[in-house]
Amino acid sequence: MPRPVVLDVDTGVDDACALLLAARHPELDLLAVSCVGGNAPLDLVVANTLTVLEAAGRDDVPVAAGSARPLLEAARDARHVHGEDGLGDLDWPRSARRPDPRPAVELLRDVIREAPEPVTLVTLAPLTNIALLLRTYPDVAAGLRDIVVMGGAANVGNATASAEFNVFHDPEAAAIVLDAAADLCLGVTLYGLDVFYQPTVTGAQASRLAAAEDRAARLAGLLIGFQCERFGDPATIGDAGAVCAVLDPEALRTERLPVRVELGGSWSRGRTVVDRRHWAGDMSHDPHGRSPVEVDVALDVDGPRYAALWLDTMGAA
Ligand code: BDR
Ligand code: CA
Repeated sequence: MPRPVVLDVDTGVDDACALLLAARHPELDLLAVSCVGGNAPLDLVVANTLTVLEAAGRDDVPVAAGSARPLLEAARDARHVHGEDGLGDLDWPRSARRPDPRPAVELLRDVIREAPEPVTLVTLAPLTNIALLLRTYPDVAAGLRDIVVMGGAANVGNATASAEFNVFHDPEAAAIVLDAAADLCLGVTLYGLDVFYQPTVTGAQASRLAAAEDRAARLAGLLIGFQCERFGDPATIGDAGAVCAVLDPEALRTERLPVRVELGGSWSRGRTVVDRRHWAGDMSHDPHGRSPVEVDVALDVDGPRYAALWLDTMGAA
């Protein structure tokens, strides 16, 4: 039986790589996709998501629009990373499909409640939708197997020196999701920047995909080609690695560690503070105490194995 998954995305070039993998891999049953403002404004995120699913031949997957902005702050997109349209400015024809009329949290609620077996929620974007979902409908926890979050880092950030983009964009939402997950006894894997850049695909591999007959393979090749041109060759498959973590968790080294989200700080707002101390003496004298929230933090990954998984699923020769 394929494993049921739902994705929360801010598509985004690497979200598109993740969507193609989840939509095409035979061991995954992609039940729904929810969209949130992040890499690009919400209307572009929805249009990009529908377009990628169409390329994958998956117009059957419902897509819903969620929050256009973070809980407290104004939206700050990342089109300097993902292109003006959020999808690498490829001139790829747009899907004419309309999104599901339900708000994202209602689509997620319905799909998770109705799923025949517990669902894995994969979040690839700022956590605004998921914070609202878990606080509004905490009963969905009964229908969730676990949550894989692309977000945060034990070490450095990217949006700032301290903070990874998805957590930086809506730190309150990230803090709520970690708190709610602990409260609802949901396991969380944090697939953060310590592993995010390791699975890579070369420009030559991308060119071969881009020349394929198959539409999804072509789009996959063009997306990685865009990344190679903008950031250098080879390029990370990014968010797609978090979907690989669902398919092949053995290739990921995680440690269960206490985590907090920094909500203040002059330079560190949005940082995931991962507590890797081992000496009880330090811990017991820490005025903050140990974070009550523990998550499985990804610290290392077999990058070539995840890249091969992605390439194989895209149909690379
Ligand atoms: C994350 O932020 C976005 O730019 C990517 O899509 C990914 O989800 C990496 O920090
Ligand atoms: Ca993303």
